[in-house]
Amino acid sequence: IPTIIIDEHEAMARLVAGRIATLMRERAAAGRSIVLGLATGSTPIGVYRELIRLHREEGLSFSHVISFNLDEYYPMSPDSIHSYHRFMWENLFSHVDIDPGNVHIPDGALERSAIDDACGRYEAAILAAGGVDFQLLGIGKTGHIGFNEPGSGEHSRTRIVHLDSVTRRDAAADFFGEENVPREAITMGIATILQAREIAILATGEHKSGVVRRSVEGEIDRAVAATFLQRHPNTTFYVDDAAAADLT
Ligand code: F6R
Repeated sequence: IPTIIIDEHEAMARLVAGRIATLMRERAAAGRSIVLGLATGSTPIGVYRELIRLHREEGLSFSHVISFNLDEYYPMSPDSIHSYHRFMWENLFSHVDIDPGNVHIPDGALERSAIDDACGRYEAAILAAGGVDFQLLGIGKTGHIGFNEPGSGEHSRTRIVHLDSVTRRDAAADFFGEENVPREAITMGIATILQAREIAILATGEHKSGVVRRSVEGEIDRAVAATFLQRHPNTTFYVDDAAAADLT
């Protein structure tokens, strides 16, 4: 996976947001919509901050953006402080001119019996929108992209999954205790993610160095979901010095 080491987090955010803005402007000029695949978590916040700045100061419009988020906890009410719905509205959508009808985030408040159908509709909606043009990813310590934990196959699609104990431990602080972290999530699959035309995956901090090395240099293996990105023709890995420390 082509890797760009860029230690300054603001510079990394500007680079990635700049690429997204370029694609958005190209599409706007052609009078067409653009489909963005978006992630939550701490890593992409700087990218969203920069996109908001570009909207406010440089007139970047989101009126033709269609977005699909990777995942949501299950169960999870959309207005919970822990929900990825809330995260996206607070960190990006409320600050730009996106049409709320163009925002898609897996619904963590569904009855369990309704989940499979909703996952099928999520996949269909991505296809109907023309497929994801640009997918933004973070990576978990387990190597998950979205919530595709170890064992997730290359052909996996949007579905409900069990969260790995490592992932639940990493989320414990946000939830004021591991026992409050949901045990499941709804996530796009590996195949869903690999369908994107262009992918940027970001990792910062020394706690990600092992999994960055495994993802970039290791064998493709369902034990580390991010290794499947090696099969994608247009993925760039953005890492800071600490996350790059184990690369050879
Ligand atoms: C979030 C997501 C996850 C995170 C990953 C890293 O939508 O899909 O894969 O990207 O857990 O999280 P942070 O950035 O908080 O280290």
